[in-house]
Amino acid sequence: MTEWDGTNHLVDPFCGSGTLLLETLANVTTLARPLPRELLIQTWPHHNPKLFQDVLDETSVPLTQAQTAIRAVGFDASQTALKAAQMNRDEFRTWGLGSDRLKVHLERRDLCQAWPKAQKGRSWIVMNPPYGKRLGGGSNMVFFYESLGRRLQDYANEVIGAGGQSPGYTIISSDIELLDALRLPYDKQVRLYNGADQIFLRTGTLEAKDIPVRAPLKPHIEDIEKLKEQELFVPDLAQRLVKNYKKMQAFLKKPEPKSGKGLPVDVLEQIGQVNWAAEREQAPLRLYRLYNADLPEYNCAIDVYEHCAYIQEYKAPSKVDPKKAAQRVKQIEFTLATVLGIPAHRILTKSRERQQGKQQYKRFGAPHGKGDKNQPEVRPGHLENWHRFKHVFTMSEWGAHFIVNLGDYIDTGLFLDHRRLRWLVQQISQNKHVLNLFSYTGSLSVHAALGGAASTTSVDLSPRYTSWTEHNFMANGLGLEKNQVVRADVMKWMEGNSNQYDLILIDPPTFSNSKKADDFVIQDHHESLIRQAMRHLQGQGLLFFSCNMKKFELADALKNDFVVDEISHWTQSQDFQTKTGQSLTGGHNSWVIRHKR
Ligand SMILES: C[S@@+](CC[C@H](N)C(=O)[O-])C[C@H]1O[C@@H](n2cnc3c(N)ncnc32)[C@H](O)[C@@H]1O
Repeated sequence: MTEWDGTNHLVDPFCGSGTLLLETLANVTTLARPLPRELLIQTWPHHNPKLFQDVLDETSVPLTQAQTAIRAVGFDASQTALKAAQMNRDEFRTWGLGSDRLKVHLERRDLCQAWPKAQKGRSWIVMNPPYGKRLGGGSNMVFFYESLGRRLQDYANEVIGAGGQSPGYTIISSDIELLDALRLPYDKQVRLYNGADQIFLRTGTLEAKDIPVRAPLKPHIEDIEKLKEQELFVPDLAQRLVKNYKKMQAFLKKPEPKSGKGLPVDVLEQIGQVNWAAEREQAPLRLYRLYNADLPEYNCAIDVYEHCAYIQEYKAPSKVDPKKAAQRVKQIEFTLATVLGIPAHRILTKSRERQQGKQQYKRFGAPHGKGDKNQPEVRPGHLENWHRFKHVFTMSEWGAHFIVNLGDYIDTGLFLDHRRLRWLVQQISQNKHVLNLFSYTGSLSVHAALGGAASTTSVDLSPRYTSWTEHNFMANGLGLEKNQVVRADVMKWMEGNSNQYDLILIDPPTFSNSKKADDFVIQDHHESLIRQAMRHLQGQGLLFFSCNMKKFELADALKNDFVVDEISHWTQSQDFQTKTGQSLTGGHNSWVIRHKR
């Protein structure tokens, strides 16, 4: 039923014990005749052996001398599964596998690496992708299937680019919503029953195609005189938005760091060869800060998130008339929608209390009204329904994909100001053991993993953020075998852990008072935090520490015992730099710390 016609390459990226791969091979080729073992169907009371044999003969591909050799490849992340697959292959060998014309290669590989090199000829991919359990608990698999769809399309592009034919695919899943999340064309869908369980089998052929990306928004004004008549339109703000955008044009087109100038010499030596972006073609930035409270009366930050805009507005002081304050928010939203040319529902506004560290990570409240029946109930901490929310998207940054939630919390899941550090981490993580403390949604860990880290460990106290982190790994086709996500208090976890890491990333909150951990106040506790983390840093390792607190001062005593350099000017992106050097929200300071030699 897989539709594979016996040509060239048969690939199962998640082969488990090899059943699908080997049975497909056996059922399609004549090598496995007679059948390796009696099938259940042959024991049924009304089984018709003649009809069965006729069907087998009709669907079998005789492996004559003239036929091209077949290479079957199976990958799996689990050693145990792979051992079972090897045993099954041995069983099949008796019937001809392993001959020159039919070879089966099995290999342990992580999810995102589970693709063979693009080959000439025709490839067919068969798969029954892993379920939630193997990828981490009560998962929302939609994000994983989205990434799988992208990966399959990438593979098809590579194969066709290398002179091969359009690959075919067969995928089995119990959930039609997941199959749709692949966003791949298909020729046929069949409903089957595995006992009482319903499953779907989809087959299709993949042509070369660009993976669709959302173009980032560009502010522009068409007819300012006409717009001035609109009550809510603010010409000054509109002009400022356009001006800011124009000023950032070059940066937005080529956002990657062009050199390590500004990083300490020994750090540059330590990180070795980095493929700085100077000579490379770069992908334009699709998530950026457009406005940073440039006009005092419009005291907000505006970030562009691909096709959406996100306003963070500081609540007006109590002396300001609340009606006036509300009117101002409406003006900002209207002006922004006009200048960006988007409908109001693609603009999300958050109101932030001033200096309320405690509120930073609380749930913000759903943006949709109670009467909105199109929106499922919001259950914070559980990501099962998130893909159905109009304000949750998978957005990309330098080859990584992140789930951003522009509606439910005060922060979106991705701190845009940290993107240069994320870029660097991706560049320098190859074969490193990476520890990410206060990991939030795990964006730094994902970049490290994509950069080839030997392992990543992400530690955060919040069940919502550790779950989000697992989903971010899934959204990149990364498995959790090498990427550990730990829900724990950082201080307690470090006490009970003796592992050593090559790269440690610490971006703590300014303040945190959870029932599950002692209060954490960055100015008071950062010194002991860093000292303890340095015990986990191997001799040549690097620790990157950053913080968002405006008047933060790094303890001088640390400089006596370690080599410490501030690198804020290097890590802070251009769109977060303001005249005063301080950003309204999201600006940070950062340091690189290492052992004395
Ligand atoms: C500023 S965010 C980290 C941002 C993140 N590094 C990034 O760049 O995306 C702070 C995180 O610290 C976590 N947190 C607060 N107190 C903690 C504690 N005692 N132990 C572990 N995590 C904690 C919060 O749940 C939150 O996710």
